[in-house]
Amino acid sequence: MILSSNNTAAVALTSNHLHRAAAQYGTPLYLYDAAELDAALSRVRSAFGTARVYYAMKANPNLTLLRRLHAAGVGFECVSAGEIARAERIGAGGDSLLVNGPAKSDAEYAAGARLGATFIVDRAEEVGLLPPHSRALVRVNPALEISTHDHLATGAAGSKFGVTLAQAPAVLQALRDAGHTALGLHVHIGSAIRNAQDFTAAFARLADLRAETGPLAVLDAGGGWGLNADLPGIAREAQAVATVFGAELWVEPGRYLTAQAGTLLTRVVGTKQTGRSFVLVDAGMTELLRPMLYSAEHPVSALWEGEQSGTWDIAGPACESGDLLARDVTLPTPQRGNLLAIHEAGAYGAGMSSNYLTRSRPAEVLWEDGELKLMRRRETPEDVWAAEEMG
Ligand code: LLP
Repeated sequence: MILSSNNTAAVALTSNHLHRAAAQYGTPLYLYDAAELDAALSRVRSAFGTARVYYAMKANPNLTLLRRLHAAGVGFECVSAGEIARAERIGAGGDSLLVNGPAKSDAEYAAGARLGATFIVDRAEEVGLLPPHSRALVRVNPALEISTHDHLATGAAGSKFGVTLAQAPAVLQALRDAGHTALGLHVHIGSAIRNAQDFTAAFARLADLRAETGPLAVLDAGGGWGLNADLPGIAREAQAVATVFGAELWVEPGRYLTAQAGTLLTRVVGTKQTGRSFVLVDAGMTELLRPMLYSAEHPVSALWEGEQSGTWDIAGPACESGDLLARDVTLPTPQRGNLLAIHEAGAYGAGMSSNYLTRSRPAEVLWEDGELKLMRRRETPEDVWAAEEMG
């Protein structure tokens, strides 16, 4: 969906606040609405009831967001030494920590063990690599067709993730034989999943394993819910498969908890006609890679007035023709300095931003209780080359 300037229903903040934030902190800028962050967690909690929630930190690892979620009783799913260090930095550990990943390093096993994390085993060989007496879940790949972009389908046949359904009972047993605690099964079939039937199919395949595995303590149903997903429906089915195993339900939402709260603010630098009409802006693939990497469509609002002036492609400053934030957006005539808001950018936006072209990653700001609070200052070029030697 593309929003035009006179349809800003998706903007939780008023346009005045967006202008104020851009004036105060500059652009490009990530702005998050605390009320929407809280609302998303409430929606998850009311759909999933007593299920334990582990936020997939990769969606947005900013320490301010992690602290808020931790204070609300949410745990964390981490996939790198850096993410584990973030969890430790905010005081999370033990029951509130999952260490996952298809290729964990020795340092990641050691850090997870030191913090008392539960490990998600992604292949049989890992049983012999886990620190002694670990708690572990076994990730299963149900090998289905998944309705999302190919890069985001993790439960598809041939993906690198998880063990096969056929292997799963033996891997659970191998964990027990090696003196670990085999807590149960884990499944995460992909991200931004469009069709709820995919979850139904995956959970049904897991439930079929009950005869071989016996009862289990935990069933982790992963995340992957699209922003318009029928959460109560997915929750009912996840709870049903947990019940089959007599297990406690765990879930790992990432996008759902932070995407809608986040807006990328960018200023118009100019326009250009080449056969297509371009609005050139000061953000692009280095700030929001999703449109380029997954053909993701983020709603856009123009924060200026005027008659609609046709459709525009929104292009960034990088020297790459794929550096587009949106295509065919209807806008009033743009002028240098006008502000554009790119919505649903709170997940996999700032976290996937890069220093390509020695671009400074943007500031991040939280709108909470009528105030703007800095979550991350804008980088300087010195920050970008801080780890380098002159030689
Ligand atoms: N659990 C596991 C094991 C995961 O691998 C992921 C995401 C999640 C939970 C959370 O999934 P979510 O609820 O956010 O869909 N960079 C991509 C998304 C990659 C997701 C990778 N794994 C994007 O920008 O769309």
